[in-house]
Amino acid sequence: MNLINELVKNPFVLAPMAGITDKAFRGFMRQMNCGPVITELVSAKGLQYNSEKTLKLMQFDSYQHPVGVQIFGEDLQTLSEAAKFIEGMGADFVDLNFGCPVPKVVKKGSGSAVLKDLSKLKKILRATKSAVSIPVTIKVRTGWDAQTRNTEQVAQIAYDEGISWVAIHGRTRAQGYSGQSDWDYIRRVKSEARLPILGNGDITTPQLAIKRLEESGCDGVMIGRGCLKNPWIFREALNLYLKKNHNVHHDFKGLFQDLYEKMASFHDERIAGLQIKKLSSWFSAGYPGAANYRRELFKIKEHDELMGYITNYFSNISNQPQKDTSSESFLMGGHG
Ligand SMILES: Cc1cc2nc3c(=O)[nH]c(=O)nc-3n(C[C@H](O)[C@H](O)[C@H](O)COP(=O)(O)O)c2cc1C
Repeated sequence: MNLINELVKNPFVLAPMAGITDKAFRGFMRQMNCGPVITELVSAKGLQYNSEKTLKLMQFDSYQHPVGVQIFGEDLQTLSEAAKFIEGMGADFVDLNFGCPVPKVVKKGSGSAVLKDLSKLKKILRATKSAVSIPVTIKVRTGWDAQTRNTEQVAQIAYDEGISWVAIHGRTRAQGYSGQSDWDYIRRVKSEARLPILGNGDITTPQLAIKRLEESGCDGVMIGRGCLKNPWIFREALNLYLKKNHNVHHDFKGLFQDLYEKMASFHDERIAGLQIKKLSSWFSAGYPGAANYRRELFKIKEHDELMGYITNYFSNISNQPQKDTSSESFLMGGHG
């Protein structure tokens, strides 16, 4: 698969998010017109044990293509074997995680820790790339800390090793999720890079997705938390990009029916209910009475009552404007 052609068709990539972007959610977002999708990170080492839990994180439906499976690790042999396994599953690309800031991961020399040792990065890219014939992509932070930002060098190494794109979350590892994603830095890296670059971080509206794409010159943008507040963000951004009418009717009733169906066909009833509660509480951000809505939501145990409660709240607010809540802290932790 030629990933750059896919980005030309739809440059709005669904960011990997652990605990969120499972098969059900990816399928849902594809129907909401996102571009390529990527699984949450899975441990290359964990894959060796074929654990059911790990394999479940990597599942996808045929209509989700193009789909990438993200892995992390530090051992060349283990990463190569994991990449081969992913190719065998029929995924379109392997994505390597060099952005995870979580202590448990970086202590072992994986995730964003690899950014401190570019010769190791080069070895990992070479070993993984030579193990498979599908594309290999990478996702990085801008560096370990403010003093050692190095995405220009990372992009050069990635180009030399035949990597298909570099996705940049515009924060250093030291920043965690504080401050802002540095789109000026992303633009500078893109202007010098010889391979496709995806920019990522803090895109909260379809208009901002277009602005970031145009101003940075990136080949695509990745959106994570933005689709948890506005589930129509991908459809609206794509419509703007294709110069179509971007006014999409926000049919929450249909949305929740579809979302629940997807969740219930993948998870057991308890987890499906929990996922729906979580997502509906995020989708309520910026609408009147959201705080009250959330308080009661998590007390509900019974399925019919839950769906009735959700439908009732969202039918009352669906014609109301959604207030901008982007200055409020939201999901300030994750694996990239
Ligand atoms: C809950 C959560 C889980 C995440 N899990 C992953 C992950 O598994 N792999 C990864 O590369 N990035 C992960 N990230 C980082 C996102 O992909 C993205 O880089 C980050 O959220 C910034 O983009 P955004 O502002 O559009 O959300 C995660 C982020 C969040 C909030």
